[in-house]
Amino acid sequence: MLTILDLNHRIFAGGRYMDILKSVLTALENHTGEWISGGKLADQFDVSRNTIWRAMNNLIAAGYPIESVTGRGYRLSSGKDVLSETGIKLNLKRPDAYEFDCRGTVDSTNRILKELARDGAPSGTVIVADSQLKGRGRFGRTFHSPPGTGIYFSFLLRPEAYHVPVNILPAIAAVATSEGIREVFGIKNGIKWVNDIYIDDRKVAGILTEAEIDLETGSQAYVVVGIGINVYAPLQSFPEEIKNIAGTVLDGEPRPNGRNRLIAAILNKWDYYSAVENIDECSRLFRERSILKGRDVQVTIGRTTYPASVIDCDDKFQLIVEQIDGTRQILSCGEVTLSL
Ligand code: BTN
Repeated sequence: MLTILDLNHRIFAGGRYMDILKSVLTALENHTGEWISGGKLADQFDVSRNTIWRAMNNLIAAGYPIESVTGRGYRLSSGKDVLSETGIKLNLKRPDAYEFDCRGTVDSTNRILKELARDGAPSGTVIVADSQLKGRGRFGRTFHSPPGTGIYFSFLLRPEAYHVPVNILPAIAAVATSEGIREVFGIKNGIKWVNDIYIDDRKVAGILTEAEIDLETGSQAYVVVGIGINVYAPLQSFPEEIKNIAGTVLDGEPRPNGRNRLIAAILNKWDYYSAVENIDECSRLFRERSILKGRDVQVTIGRTTYPASVIDCDDKFQLIVEQIDGTRQILSCGEVTLSL
């Protein structure tokens, strides 16, 4: 059973100590399953053995499966991937920009975050869950969210936190997720317009972006970006209705800190690609990663569905499709389904 523990925020107060904590964790990860002596780590990082001991205790308190034996040192057990605020923050480029609430089982991280947003939560609030009972997908669908194997998180954006048109936020989230998976696990993946992530023609991640308008002013009150990723194979196989479509990012056993590193990488990529000066690069990547170019699809807009073939994406993250009679449409919203 997976436990999620959040470490006291005070450990992040000292930058030097945070660097040491990160170095200790990296050293353990690089030697997963092997013993490392506390004395050697102390010499390597030029700190006292007591500092190493304190770092280990903080990591253990955060849920890391670290064993310690007198005379042998410390060892990070293999085969476990513990979700924790510490593990995420240690890998974030802007740890102060995000406030995490890591939970075990919830109904839906998007639902919780929208409730917090209505109560005034600030931009950068992030809800992470180990599993969801009512994970929400696009178009009223559900998102299968079993425990221990996936990532389910939502982050909050107030209007002052983004400077690009709100309608391209879902596509930016797709690029951030695609890039995060590539960076952390070195796995090539594609984007199925507008924001599903695919590996070998199987969906491994979905994104649900929800916004609320302030009816008094007509302006955007907040945006919640919710990302769900099947990182490892679920303990029970995927449900019947998605078993021919769903896939996972990795095949093998859980990697220590894998999910934390992936969440942090996606948020780091989000910070980069949502900056106005990087939008062109983001749209180029979005186009390059599209798995739909040249493929036959069913387009659904509202209650209308029609067959078409995909020409390309344009530089505004829109999809250009050609209908059977040769007319072209430029889609900025809607749903496309691959024709098999
Ligand atoms: C889709 O594939 O249609 C979108 C799926 C989005 C799932 C994520 S998991 C975290 C967040 N909370 C939810 O309830 N949904 C999103």
